[in-house]
Order: sequence, then C-alpha cells, then structure tokens
Amino acid sequence: MAHRFDPTRDRIEDFLARHEHKTLLRFITCGSVDDGKSTLIGRLLYESGLVADDQLEAVARDSTRWGTQGERPDLALLVDGLAAEREQGITIDVAYRFFSTEQRKFIVADTPGHEQYSRNMVTGASTADLAVILVDARKGVLTQTRRHTRLAALLGVPQAVLAVNKMDLVGWDRERFETIVAEWRALAQAVGLSATAAIPMSALEGDNVIRASAHMPWYDGLPLLEHLETCPLDDGPRQRGPLRLPVQWVNRPSADFRGFSGALAGGRVRPGDAVRVLPAGRETTVARVIVGFDDVPEAVVGQSVTLTLADEVECSRGTLLSGADAPAQVADQFECTIIWMDAEPLLPGRPYLLKIGARTVGATVSAIKHVVNVNTGEQLAARTLELNAIGVCTLSLDRPVAFDPYVHNRETGGFILIDRMSCATAGAGLLHFALRRSQNLHLQGYDVDRAARAALLGQQPAVVWLTGLSGAGKSTLANRLAQRLHAAGRAAYVLDGDNLRHGLNRDLGFTDADRVENIRRVAEVARLMADAGLVVITAFISPFRSERALARSRMDGIAFIEVHVDTPLAVAEQRDPKGLYAKARRGELPHFTGIDSPYEPPEAPELHVDTSREPADEAAARVLALLRERGILPPG
Ligand code: ADX
Repeated sequence: MAHRFDPTRDRIEDFLARHEHKTLLRFITCGSVDDGKSTLIGRLLYESGLVADDQLEAVARDSTRWGTQGERPDLALLVDGLAAEREQGITIDVAYRFFSTEQRKFIVADTPGHEQYSRNMVTGASTADLAVILVDARKGVLTQTRRHTRLAALLGVPQAVLAVNKMDLVGWDRERFETIVAEWRALAQAVGLSATAAIPMSALEGDNVIRASAHMPWYDGLPLLEHLETCPLDDGPRQRGPLRLPVQWVNRPSADFRGFSGALAGGRVRPGDAVRVLPAGRETTVARVIVGFDDVPEAVVGQSVTLTLADEVECSRGTLLSGADAPAQVADQFECTIIWMDAEPLLPGRPYLLKIGARTVGATVSAIKHVVNVNTGEQLAARTLELNAIGVCTLSLDRPVAFDPYVHNRETGGFILIDRMSCATAGAGLLHFALRRSQNLHLQGYDVDRAARAALLGQQPAVVWLTGLSGAGKSTLANRLAQRLHAAGRAAYVLDGDNLRHGLNRDLGFTDADRVENIRRVAEVARLMADAGLVVITAFISPFRSERALARSRMDGIAFIEVHVDTPLAVAEQRDPKGLYAKARRGELPHFTGIDSPYEPPEAPELHVDTSREPADEAAARVLALLRERGILPPG
C-alpha cells in the first residue's frame, strides 16, 4: 500500500524518514502542449499516494536543487539555495512533486512543454535519472519530441521512456505504436540515449500507467509505474567519482568553529580525507564531517554536509573542495555547449555572469564554433545564439574556476549564464574541456610600468568615452578636446568609429554582434593606449550598455569618464552630415542606430552633454574641468 502524505498529521521530515530505506528516482516529464502530461502525472500521483503538501511544493518550485540522493531532502539548504538564486533574480518555473510507493520514492520535475520553456526542461533534466518523453499517438514524433530527446541526451539523462499516450484515440493500434517507436529509437540512438523503453498508454483511463492495459494485450512490457519502480538506478560517475563539495556558505557560529557547508556533488567524504581547496590550490585534511547536528563517519554524494578542516585555509563561498587524489581542474577558458534561453540573442564578446556551483564570475563567449539543428543534428555556422539555440562555443572567464567535464560530473561541469543588465538566467551550459591556451598563457610583467610611463609624460592617463547617436556631435567634441589637450601640452589620442572601421575593424558591419565586437576591440585598444600613458578619447556610437560597462570594467585602475553626447534624434537626423539618416529612412541602410537599431542611453554617465543646446567648446570645457577635478589634469 502506498502511504499518502497528510499535511494535517504528518511532518514532511517524518514522512520522508519513514521512506528513507527506499531508493529515490528523480525523473522529468517532457511533452508538447496537450500531450496529456498533466493527466499522466495526476494519475501517477493519485494512484500511488501523493505527497500533497503545498508548502513543500512551494519550496521546491523555482529551485535548481532537488532533494537528496537516497536521503531526506535538506529543506534548509533548498531554501538557502533559493535565497541565493533570488538575490540574482533567477526564477525557474519547474514544479517538483514528491510521491512514493512500496518500492521507491520519486521526485518528478514537471516542465511546461512550449518551446520557450526549454529552460525548464534544462533545469529539471540536469539532475534527472530518467526522462519520460510524451507523444500523442495521433501526432507521433514532433519537433518538440526531437528537441526533448536531444536535450535529454545532451544533459546526460541516463535513461529515457517514450510514453506513447492517447492510444485510445488511435484504436489501440499496435502498428501505429511501432511506427512511432521505430522513428524515436533511431533518433535516440543517433543522439546517444542508449537505455530506452517505449510504452503505449492512455493516461485518461490509466491504461499501462499503473496497471497493464486490457486494450493492448499485444504489449508485453511493463506499465509505466512499474518501469519507474524497477529500472536500474545508477548515479555512477558521481557516486563512484572523487569527492566534490561546492561550498555554499561558510558556517561560523563562534570563533572556534569554522564549517564549510554544501551538498556533496561527487564521491564520499570521511574525516581524515585529504582535500584540495580550489581554485586556490591549498591542501589540507577533513577534520569533522557533520550531517544535521551530528558528526558522522561518512557522507555520500547528494547529502548536505558541513566539513571542518584541519588547517586554517582561505576557503569562502564558491570554493570547490576536491579530493586531493583526484582534484578538479582549474581553468579560465573552455570549450562548452550552451543552450540559450533568452529572447535577446547571445552575442560573442558581450559580458555575462557565469555561475558554476556557488561561484559567480564574469564570462564572455569568444567564439561560436557551430550551432546544432535540433531536428537533424546538423552543425551550422552562426554568429549569435538565438532563443533555444544549442551552440558549441569557446568561453572565456575573468577569473579561473574549478570544474569537471560535464560528462564526468553534471553538477561541477554545468553552469548558467546570467544577463548582467536584467539579472535573468539567459542560458545554461556544459563544460567540455579547458582550452590548452588558458593553461599556457601567463601575464608577463615589465619593469617599466604604467606609473613610470605616466611620470615620463608628466600626466595621468585616462579614457574619455563619448557615446551617442550618429550625428550627435561626438567627433566634433573629440576634436575640440584633442585640440585643447594638445595646446595644454598633454599627449592625447582620438579613436574614432569611422576611422577605426577603415582599418582594425574593417571586417565588421553594423549587426548587434558586430557592434559588440567593435566596442570590445576599441575598449582593448583604449586600455592599451591609456596604459602607454595617453589621454584617450573614443568617439563611437557604442549603443549598448553591456559593452560600455565592459569597457569600464577592463580599465584596471585607469580613469574612465563616460560622456553621453546626447541630442534629440530629430536634430541628429536634420544635421545628417553624411546623408546616412536619409538613406536609412529610404530603407537603403539597414540596422541604422536610432532608426531600426537600438541605442541604450547611459543611466549614470560622468557627464551629459546636449549638443542641441550647448556649443562644443563649452562641452569640451566641462570635460576638461572634470579631468582637473579628478586629478588627471593639473589645476588651473
Ligand atoms: S558602433 O555602433 O559600432 O559603435 P561606430 O561608432 O563604430 O558604431 O560607427 C558609426 C559610424 O558608422 C556612424 O557615425 C556612421 O557614419 C557609420 N554607419 C554606417 N552604417 C551605420 C549604421 N547602420 N548604423 C550606425 N552608423 C553607421
């Protein structure tokens, strides 16, 4: 008999404790709209005794972390994890439901089927033991089915079940079932999903969901629930693999206790184990292993633990404690697969935040090698990743992280990308391997440094970053500034959009992706020139906030003055010094800023200049005054 959870009587901890001896199967259901997924889940829950606890469900909703492997879920950690995600504005809509039978307990991640929700499937699948892929017997294998199957394989879900639903609507037809299964099996095999089963069913009446169907005597396999209860469970690589503990928080209740807490992402841990603290690299040994409030001789993958270490080592949130005999790798450049989940496309060169384990660092995609067509598996060239695209990319981080290849450990090899401006999760990814170049490149130090060069020139370097529409007056202002600086005996240099696009950037056009790359290069050049000692003035539309923020963040101590050279579009258009607005209005110049390509005005520039009201000389005087105020130019 199944035990039904009663929220008025049972505490969830007690309920789960009673089921502690049972193995836990985490599975995900994926289907298109109207495949009957809700009916199926409803039936499973109804017939097997549902944990109908709203509170628990609410806790589990939005969480990227599931309950623990074989042990009771640590609700506190779940909530902590959630709080951390919330801080970053991440919300993920997956409903997790718990139920149990005599044989096993289950957590099912229910993910909506619309294509735009591939994000939900990614979240659920990255920790699932099994995927139930639903198809409607009348419709057969659809694009969605291919997408779900490919994603399940990509995300390393070890097993899949094809649930061919609504068999009643095709007259329980065996041939129909077999045709669908043959098509799907070929696909599953092609994408590397080897452990598969296919079940003809009708969730409406419960045929082959819980009990064998009298309508389909030709089917000699198991009903779905029995399959879920008996399928082999092996979290293999993670279970047998080396110790991994991403430190979620440092637990320091008093001066003489310092514990490192998190959920074990790999292997097992015992007191006395040698561990390496990554990415820093120090080695030490585990002193105590604490689960809940008790010291234990051992903890295993999935459990939430607190470790204390024998030595006082630097170890903060985001650190990966790693078995010293098989430590994780450390790198800052990778090949990876990215599943893009944002309506705004991913642009190479654009800065994002990357979160791996509990560590968050800055990241850019340096190149897209190819994207994968979900229908055919074909590899196609691409300059950007659009919503739902799956792309193989090279990735570059601003700091090294500890990791394992995703195929070895889904937790320490998986990451999410966060949009810096909206703070939303924009993509998910799997690390393949570290690029060798990242391990063989080191910064070379030189004795003549920035300060020495600046002293020789008798000035402080700076970057004055002018941004604004075409025709707003950036070049005019840059010209005045350069004249005035020159006259004052300062070494200055202007980097100008039109000019650089004749040389360094002549390979770039005006798509969003090209503008991002344009500004990335300009930011690097500006930094080098300022590092050489110059006052650099840049005159580029630089339409996007992210790339201006990137430029600022690359300055490494060099003063960065952002000036919004603002003028109403109508005024710029009327000036139209190069006749480009007229062309754009005639439709002869696509992607023109202000017409059919966006301009994101700065939110907090150091200076704002409206060139329709202020003569260039006055604006230049204000910039110079600010430079004096900042100590870049001498007073007076
Ligand atoms: S940015 O957007 O990538 O920063 P950049 O400043 O280098 O642009 O170049 C802008 C200049 O290129 C404009 O002043 C204009 O003369 C010219 N131009 C040509 N096509 C376009 C376009 N589609 N949009 C904006 N500027 C264009």
